[in-house]
Amino acid sequence: MNEEYRPEYKKKSIRSFVIRAGRMTDGQKKAFDTYWPVYGASLFDGPLEPEQAFGRSAPQVLEIGFGMGDSLREMAENEPDKDFIGIEVHPPGVGRLIYTAGEAGVRNLKVYMADATDVLDDCIADNSLTRLQIYFPDPWHKKKHHKRRIVQPDFVQKIRRKLKTGGVLHLATDWENYAEHMKEVMDAAEGYKNTQADGSFAPRPAYRPITKFEKRGEKLGHGVWDLVYEKIGER
Ligand SMILES: C[S@@+](CC[C@H](N)C(=O)[O-])C[C@H]1O[C@@H](n2cnc3c(N)ncnc32)[C@H](O)[C@@H]1O
Repeated sequence: MNEEYRPEYKKKSIRSFVIRAGRMTDGQKKAFDTYWPVYGASLFDGPLEPEQAFGRSAPQVLEIGFGMGDSLREMAENEPDKDFIGIEVHPPGVGRLIYTAGEAGVRNLKVYMADATDVLDDCIADNSLTRLQIYFPDPWHKKKHHKRRIVQPDFVQKIRRKLKTGGVLHLATDWENYAEHMKEVMDAAEGYKNTQADGSFAPRPAYRPITKFEKRGEKLGHGVWDLVYEKIGER
């Protein structure tokens, strides 16, 4: 993490995000000064060591693109027996999460302000995660932008390597066309099994709070689709 609190990522041809312009407010800067040393982890510090990061070895949950982070903080508070790792490229969201978590005294949380693809590659051990969650990823509505959608065949295999056998990948979206795309990708993905015996979308699991983005979608009359797939097989 550099002094300017900028997101960390390596050069690549297709990115699932845009870096939004804008300076940090004094309040956000203060949140970083106070709480980044508590919660922050850097892409460039190599593999995350759970014992060192959390002072224990507990089941690990990773969230990609937590937005403003309210639902991730709530989950960390509701599931103190697990350790949570959040990844987000948008600095104001990271600032809000570390501030609210810090004020609430949350201890089972670490945060990367970086591209999730790079963090998975360089920092997260294989066969280590109990759950990986991606809630309401950018839908990239236009067809010519669909290649920027984060849920793609190669990406879900990258995730699979990081899950423990029996661990789950939990996706949610309020965009029907993306829900169909996610389902197609997951049904075809080797080494995953839909947790719904009838092969359908899943009801929202009790552990997933309703996110800020989802509330906005609900007001616009959008539906919501959850997908929960389990890793099967050893590798
Ligand atoms: C539509 S928002 C949803 C936020 C939140 N999950 C919610 O439901 O309110 C998607 C978020 O994913 C983040 N994002 C997209 N690609 C990412 C990546 N490769 N690594 C980390 N964050 C990413 C974006 O910055 C954005 O904040």
